[in-house]
Amino acid sequence: MKEIVIKLENVTKHYSMGDAIVKAVDGISIDIEKGDFVAIIGPSGCGKSTAMNLVGSLDLPTSGKIFLGK
Ligand SMILES: Nc1ncnc2c1ncn2[C@@H]1O[C@H](COP(=O)(O)OP(=O)(O)O)[C@@H](O)[C@H]1O
Ligand SMILES: [Mg+2]
Repeated sequence: MKEIVIKLENVTKHYSMGDAIVKAVDGISIDIEKGDFVAIIGPSGCGKSTAMNLVGSLDLPTSGKIFLGK
């Protein structure tokens, strides 16, 4: 049976840098099922570390929802 252990719903992380807003993560949604083997790939600065920090609860999203199962 399908068991989702990590779910992201339209998650964003924006940083204010003076007048500018850095959209480090700009609306990602994903369902990761138990037993899935997942890799996040992309160029430097695309938001991989920011996304992982959100999944690991080291940081809070600007908006969106994160669900963590067992
Ligand atoms: N604490 C922060 N304050 C401001 N900007 C940040 C911060 N952390 C990351 N960024 C910016 O967010 C973007 C994504 O960074 P990051 O998640 O580290 O990318 P990656 O891990 O894919 O290289 C980059 O433009 C980076 O400069
Ligand atoms: Mg990184």
